[in-house]
Amino acid sequence: MPTVKEILQTMDYGPAPEADNHVTAWLASHEKGFKHFIGGAFVASKGKDTFEVVNPARDTLLAKVAAGTAEDVDAAVKAARKAFPAWSALPGHERARYLYAIARHIQKRERFLSVLETLDNGKPIRESRDIDIPLVARHFYHHAGWAELVETEFAGYGPVGVCGQIIPWNFPLLMLAWKIAPALAAGNTVVLKPAEFTPLTALAFAEICREAGLPDGVVNIVTGDGATGAALVAHPDVDKIAFTGSTEVGRLIRQATAGSGKKLSLELGGKSPFIVYEDADLDGAVEGVVDAIWFNQGQVCCAGSRLLIQEGIAERFLGKLRRRMETLRVGDPLDKSVDMGAIVAPVQLQRIQDLVKKGEQEGGTLWQVDCALPARGSFFPPSIFVDVEPSSTVSEVEIFGPVAVAMTFRTPDEAIQLANHTRYGLAASIWSENINRALDTAARMKAGVVWVNSTNLFDAAAGFGGYRESGFGREGGREGLYEYLKPDWEKSLPAAEDSKAAALGVAPAEAPAGSGLPSIDRTAKLFVGGKQARPDSGYSYTVKSTAGATLGQAGLGNRKDIRNAVEAATKAGGWGAATAHNRAQVLYYIAENLSTRAAEFEQRLVSYGHSAKAAKAEVEEAVRRIFYYAAQADKYDGRVHATRSRNVTLAMNEPFGVVGILCPDEAPLLGFVSLVLPAIAMGNRVVAVPSPAFPLAATDFYQILETSDVPAGVVNIVTGARDELAKTLAEHDDVDALWYHGSRSGAAAAEKASAGNLKATWTNQGRAIDWLKDAQAQGADYLRHATQVKNIWVPYGE
Ligand code: NAI
Repeated sequence: MPTVKEILQTMDYGPAPEADNHVTAWLASHEKGFKHFIGGAFVASKGKDTFEVVNPARDTLLAKVAAGTAEDVDAAVKAARKAFPAWSALPGHERARYLYAIARHIQKRERFLSVLETLDNGKPIRESRDIDIPLVARHFYHHAGWAELVETEFAGYGPVGVCGQIIPWNFPLLMLAWKIAPALAAGNTVVLKPAEFTPLTALAFAEICREAGLPDGVVNIVTGDGATGAALVAHPDVDKIAFTGSTEVGRLIRQATAGSGKKLSLELGGKSPFIVYEDADLDGAVEGVVDAIWFNQGQVCCAGSRLLIQEGIAERFLGKLRRRMETLRVGDPLDKSVDMGAIVAPVQLQRIQDLVKKGEQEGGTLWQVDCALPARGSFFPPSIFVDVEPSSTVSEVEIFGPVAVAMTFRTPDEAIQLANHTRYGLAASIWSENINRALDTAARMKAGVVWVNSTNLFDAAAGFGGYRESGFGREGGREGLYEYLKPDWEKSLPAAEDSKAAALGVAPAEAPAGSGLPSIDRTAKLFVGGKQARPDSGYSYTVKSTAGATLGQAGLGNRKDIRNAVEAATKAGGWGAATAHNRAQVLYYIAENLSTRAAEFEQRLVSYGHSAKAAKAEVEEAVRRIFYYAAQADKYDGRVHATRSRNVTLAMNEPFGVVGILCPDEAPLLGFVSLVLPAIAMGNRVVAVPSPAFPLAATDFYQILETSDVPAGVVNIVTGARDELAKTLAEHDDVDALWYHGSRSGAAAAEKASAGNLKATWTNQGRAIDWLKDAQAQGADYLRHATQVKNIWVPYGE
């Protein structure tokens, strides 16, 4: 035993292990294996297979858990469906009482859950005790509040139904809370599948549901691996899938749910930048790196894994960081003075080791803490790569381990360019004492969460989720609740079979009817980059009225035309940066010009087959709708979320960027206006494909755009075969979101094709909207789909 004097000289920590006797006793009571939690009871699996849950820090067996079969999933979905009517019909206050009870029970079991989480996952007890489990309780408290308020704060919305939820192993109970709390608050019932490496706290949570008296079937938990998850995704009676995990699996789920009508939210991988400007508080930033990449052994989707350091301070900063690294303690995660515990499983350790080897082969210099790792278990030391290229494997791929890469930059513009040089867009951390610079950088980050002079802050009141291939949808806060709600108007839409959209297609090209004289070219052109353009194919097609009379020709756009239009839209990025007031003025001008030419547009619609009255109503409504979005342009703004003390969390509604819009056949003018206007009002640029059956109202509309000060490239119009063009748009990496109105099969194909860059999609699923009805065709739902929420965390005070 060292003397006090010796300890003071070395400043060495002794071991401070957390007791695990309660947890081991609980595990022993389940020695025969855990069952699924279905319909309020622990139920044996229909299959015989089990899997072993191992403590990754000691390589010891913790438990045997049932491997869920498709039949088990079916039983759980049935239980959730059975529970749904009563649960969703409860007054919000009663649901609030249950959520509140769950939060209380979690708090009472905080120590138990922390130890269990640490044994199961390998994360340091300091983190499970001080971060994971308190945030779990906070999430249920916060959402008890939403249950209380949902009827008034979200009037006109109802629950989605039965939600299938699939979570990863890095924050097992916290991810469960992020999924279950909002779902229940909004009146849904759930089937949750925890990750195969870490199912134990979910099973303890099932016990808590029983203790709290939650009605049977409201929460169901089926354990298993990817196959169980896939069965849940495929189940026809699931109304929504919420997934957190790898981008690869997210992509599979996007494809599997395409056309199913299931609502979908995906929270996927990341390769988040951590930017240190030369005017940063360097010591603070060093601590930031510790929390960014060595928190939870770096197994964090929003880990600050790419350090971007301004050249002038790089050497000094990295020197400080290296000294700080040496003081990190890696070891038994149950030891209260350990900074880094075990990697979740040998397979993940292997993945990290392989990637690190690759980084060295590609010429990176690896700095690693020279510490003795425990002889047993899956451990990896804190590591940094320096001298790496932005395009090297370790700079681009999510390592999901305690390994950062460090690069330098010269100017803020270069920092931003490097930061956004990734297919992901989950988070970013910015360090500067210059608030202007920090906020300017934050605004220009393509990421869903930005921390200024801080990192890895989470709170139930703020949404969390990504841009680009980090997924779509938010978890937490008001914005997160929408993922578990659907607007009442959707319920009243006619089914796909009733939609006349399904019946319409593109007419084949016909020679213009001639009198012998060459006809005057009446082919409506495409509108790309502010200019009228001939279709690349050189072909056009005949547009007919509903009675079959030939009305004219429209260009038959192809892939090349779409690519040109996307390029033009990409270049028009200034539109998103213009003031909302400016955009509003342009929109008002569009309305004014349409109003002046109303008679002409009415005539167009009459030629198509509208009655004079219907044509007048459609044009009038189009003018009014443009006014509505002009009005909203500077009013649909963000919020300041109440998260931590001495912190403002700014929830900004940002445009997606380039939105592809496939317009409906019903209401050829109004459908086009109702979709394009909200998108551009929020600062997006659009590539619109008008109704193929009657594109002429939209092609006339570009004359309005030309005279209304709409900058070139903000609205591009490509006529042609909707589903063919939808596919090109869906597959295009520079298209950030896709709205589709057409046939059910077309919607399914567009959703499937969008999996490539995981763009956010919004489709009518073959249902027809009544475009004259404001309740269906106008409003905040449209603006919400035109924006994604970025949460910027700004601490204040010294
Ligand atoms: P994963 O994405 O395979 O697993 C996450 C969850 O999805 C688990 O519950 C798993 O059982 C389930 N799952 C797997 N295949 C499925 C399928 N086809 N259908 C439905 N559910 C399915 O992630 P994994 O294999 O555990 O880790 C691999 C890599 O993924 C990590 O190295 C890391 O880079 C990344 N990852 C990212 C996470 C994040 O939070 N963004 C979390 C976990 C992993």
